[in-house]
Amino acid sequence: MNQLNQPKFRHTPVLVDEVCTLLINDLSGVYIDGTFGLGGHSKALSLLLNDDATLIGIDQDESALAQFDPSLIKQSLHLMCTNFENLDQVLDDLSITKVHGILLDLGLNSFSLDDPERGFAFSLEGPLDMRFDRSNELTAETVINEYSQEQLANIMYRFGEERNSRRIARKIVDMRTKKRLIEIDQLREAVAGCVDPRFRNKSLARVFQAFRIEVNREMDVLATVLDSAVKVLAPGGRLAVISYHSLEDRMVKNHFRDLSQDIPRQPGMRDDEVKIPLLKRLTGKPVIADPAEAAANPRARSAKLRVAERTSHAS
Ligand SMILES: C[S@@+](CC[C@H](N)C(=O)[O-])C[C@H]1O[C@@H](n2cnc3c(N)ncnc32)[C@H](O)[C@@H]1O
Repeated sequence: MNQLNQPKFRHTPVLVDEVCTLLINDLSGVYIDGTFGLGGHSKALSLLLNDDATLIGIDQDESALAQFDPSLIKQSLHLMCTNFENLDQVLDDLSITKVHGILLDLGLNSFSLDDPERGFAFSLEGPLDMRFDRSNELTAETVINEYSQEQLANIMYRFGEERNSRRIARKIVDMRTKKRLIEIDQLREAVAGCVDPRFRNKSLARVFQAFRIEVNREMDVLATVLDSAVKVLAPGGRLAVISYHSLEDRMVKNHFRDLSQDIPRQPGMRDDEVKIPLLKRLTGKPVIADPAEAAANPRARSAKLRVAERTSHAS
């Protein structure tokens, strides 16, 4: 086997059969994998699509894209290293106006999580980095050392739903007045000092998630891409989103719900009260992993897949 077929790191794609079944609506269409990672979902889509289909893979992490062997995709493949919030620009650059499917498998790759240098995993030793895109300036170290105590508490509360956010923020500020926090173990120590040892790992997971969301502006970029995605889908085209925490899932759910509302014009109604459905939801409740997949792949346990289809109404 070609060495490139054996990436240094492995990432098992989540809900792969469900994604393929729900996303594909035109075997010769244009598909965007907005979170290409190691290309697990794209490879599965490629096996099902016709040779004249087009695949566009976007990832802001160049180390992910660099590991992929493009010969594994038989269709025309465009790999773009950028944030998916730049979806419009990507399509402009490729002179593509409409697409048939967009997949967003949010969060981070297993290989980034396992790399101590990236600073994502609270159980490893490494720098407080947490950037998906290492060319960005803002790191977790900057956030933790330079944001106010109130900002830190708000981030942990809002993006981590961490109840001890105020106490942890106070502890961080106390620690950083003595010495700048630059390593994962210092943040771990700040959290551990504020929570019951029985719940320590849950709090650590929430706090690390919160700072990762802040560093990568994850909620803002998701809101942007959901808007642009709906505009670039051809009628019948589909948007599939896999999320791994409740904040993301809520945003996707509300977006799909709002855009699938039908409020016909009534006498005396203002224009902004009239709603034509731009989307039709294909999943009522989110699709989750079956017990076998959840047992085999821990990442699949928190995954929720929602899919919606573009209607033929003009936006
Ligand atoms: C869960 S992994 C995707 C794994 C992929 N589906 C596979 O099967 O290999 C998420 C990927 O999305 C990328 N990513 C996250 N947010 C992004 C964004 N805003 N723009 C572009 N890529 C992003 C991460 O760098 C990571 O590689």
